Amino acid sequence: MSFYIGPMTDVSTTGADLDPTAQQPALDESVDPTTTGGVDDPGPAGSDDTGPAGSGGRDSLTVTDNRTGETYELEITDGTIRAADLKQISADGQGLATYDPGFVNTASCRSAVTYIDGDAGILEYRGYPIEQLAESSTFLEVAYLLLNGELPNETELASWVHDITTHTFLHENVKQLMQGFRYDAHPMGMLMSSVSALSTFYPDANQISDVDNRQLQITRLIAKMPTLGAFAFRHAQGKPYVYPDNRLSYVENFLAMLFKMSEPTYGADPRLVKALDVLLILHADHEQNCSTNAVRSVGSSQVDPYSAVAAGIGALYGPLHGGANESVLKMLRRIGSVDNIPGFIDGVKAGKEKLMGFGHRVYKNFDPRATIIKKACDDVFAVTGVNPLLKIAQELERIALEDEYFIKRKLYPNVDFYSGLIYEALQFPPEMFTVLFAIGRTPGWLAQWAELVQDKEQKIARPKQIYTGHRTRTFVPMADR
Ligand code: ACO
Repeated sequence: MSFYIGPMTDVSTTGADLDPTAQQPALDESVDPTTTGGVDDPGPAGSDDTGPAGSGGRDSLTVTDNRTGETYELEITDGTIRAADLKQISADGQGLATYDPGFVNTASCRSAVTYIDGDAGILEYRGYPIEQLAESSTFLEVAYLLLNGELPNETELASWVHDITTHTFLHENVKQLMQGFRYDAHPMGMLMSSVSALSTFYPDANQISDVDNRQLQITRLIAKMPTLGAFAFRHAQGKPYVYPDNRLSYVENFLAMLFKMSEPTYGADPRLVKALDVLLILHADHEQNCSTNAVRSVGSSQVDPYSAVAAGIGALYGPLHGGANESVLKMLRRIGSVDNIPGFIDGVKAGKEKLMGFGHRVYKNFDPRATIIKKACDDVFAVTGVNPLLKIAQELERIALEDEYFIKRKLYPNVDFYSGLIYEALQFPPEMFTVLFAIGRTPGWLAQWAELVQDKEQKIARPKQIYTGHRTRTFVPMADR
């Protein structure tokens, strides 16, 4: 098969002259479309500016099927072709499909929520750079931005904060459900189950096309996530659950539910409150990552948002995703001392294990969140004292960044490399790290879910497969096997 990329020919006017391979040599299929000069930059995300300046036409990809000699012209929109357009390419009655395990080069949706340029290390929520939001905003303000597309004015923010604050309590039966877990239950398992259980407490949440109903469930879930997370934490410690204190801010209230004992009001250090708020902002969304894809995929069946977000929590739990920060801490502890780093790195390079907290599907130069977190580390350690594992982490980073193995594969510290150190300094056990991630990610999941349910182009997620098994065998009775 060969490809040609150029302006889309108007079929209605060119008739038989359609085959552009007659005018231009066909490009080998290994050619990167972005380097051919035939495709313009697709422009800002969501822009309609997809054609080359002055061409007056749309971009297209011309494909010649060497099996049949047929040529096809596929429209290029926003730097993508539609996989469904490949179906018409057929030598055997089976339309051509794409094979893309892990979705490494497949866009599953159009989204206006979060923009990432992995090569340039850019992350923007609704167009606002993450650095500015981390510096000047608050988590609830960012949540509003993600969900509504614009920063709130003063009245809108006050009303949003009020709504969240008044939905922090859980039904007592949710508390009892959580109390039913084993004493050593992982808090992510508890969180996933209890979020899923919320769908039974709010059965009206299945009215997903009702905008007010959606807003109510979104408010409920963002409000209740810290309460669920804190209850899961207290459960593991055998301590009584602490009810929300609605006089406190979102983060202060969370810290109080986690750590309050007999004091009438829990007073958190404002520097730690700010650091945790920043961490939640950094985790608030990250476009089509594994857990967001899970939320969207499950949400595409039109199930309620609690069930969809519970699926996202399950995806986040995995060590290659949100569970990485827990693994980083365990890894640093296992390395134990700076002297053991070279031996550990040799093991990674020999493929025995991964350097957790390194590497990213999208960021190939640096993860902007890791840069902000490193600064937050300093702020937190100024209050709590330096985490002794920091020295190992810094030396590990230094050695890895100078090592050919990591340079060649463009492996850099990701958001999880340092976040665990801060969380530990804040007195969280490693099992809680991913819970903190989930609380931060909830507005992003819900913004993406709300976008999904309003997107007329979306269908129930249902990938194809390449079947590799047996065909049509005759059942063998037990006696003959
Ligand atoms: N340590 C050592 N080698 C690595 C690492 C790592 N952390 N990450 C990737 N590699 C290697 C792979 O073995 C592969 O090498 P090869 O070409 O010789 O086979 C190459 O780098 C490319 O890696 P892939 O696995 O193909 O990259 P992918 O984009 O699929 O995976 C991922 C990205 C899952 C994040 C991966 O880098 C990883 O497992 N990192 C460690 C876990 C981690 O920190 N996850 C958190 C990600 S951030 C987040 O979810 C919030």
